[in-house]
Amino acid sequence: MTYRIQFVCLGNICRSPTAEGILRGLVEQAGADIEVSSSGTSGWHNGKLPDARSMAEAKRRGYDLSSQRSSQTAQSDFEYFDLIIGMDHSNMVNLRAIAPCGAKAKMKMLLDYLPEQPLREVPDPYYEDGFDTVFDLIEAACKALLADITPKG
Ligand code: 4NP
Repeated sequence: MTYRIQFVCLGNICRSPTAEGILRGLVEQAGADIEVSSSGTSGWHNGKLPDARSMAEAKRRGYDLSSQRSSQTAQSDFEYFDLIIGMDHSNMVNLRAIAPCGAKAKMKMLLDYLPEQPLREVPDPYYEDGFDTVFDLIEAACKALLADITPKG
């Protein structure tokens, strides 16, 4: 059965679209039965393409984000997806406010998959820049996530 994952950040134009693009690429390479999506808790950028800086960094690394459009996290996502993954603590607070009681989806933070990484949150690059470092972090965590959910041996 298809396993469904949604990445979540605040705007759904920088971090979570990057995670969606990377994991989708890795899933295609692995031939895994995993559906990948992303959303933002704010809805501020609904319908918009990912940030041009995220798209450029992804393109440089061989990933294409151009088919993605920003959307807002919905209550129904907690029934549809098996795993919902936030980027930082404030995303988790926002997610818990949206989640219905008895939600099916498990909730994690992306850097939970990199326990040795001193950073626990994926920094928000929107105002700060550092899209290359953010990409590195997200890519490493997506590889660890895929290894974690892919049946072993
Ligand atoms: P994201 O970054 O949550 O990684 O998509 C942001 C994008 C937009 C804004 C904040 C963070 N904003 O304030 O519009």
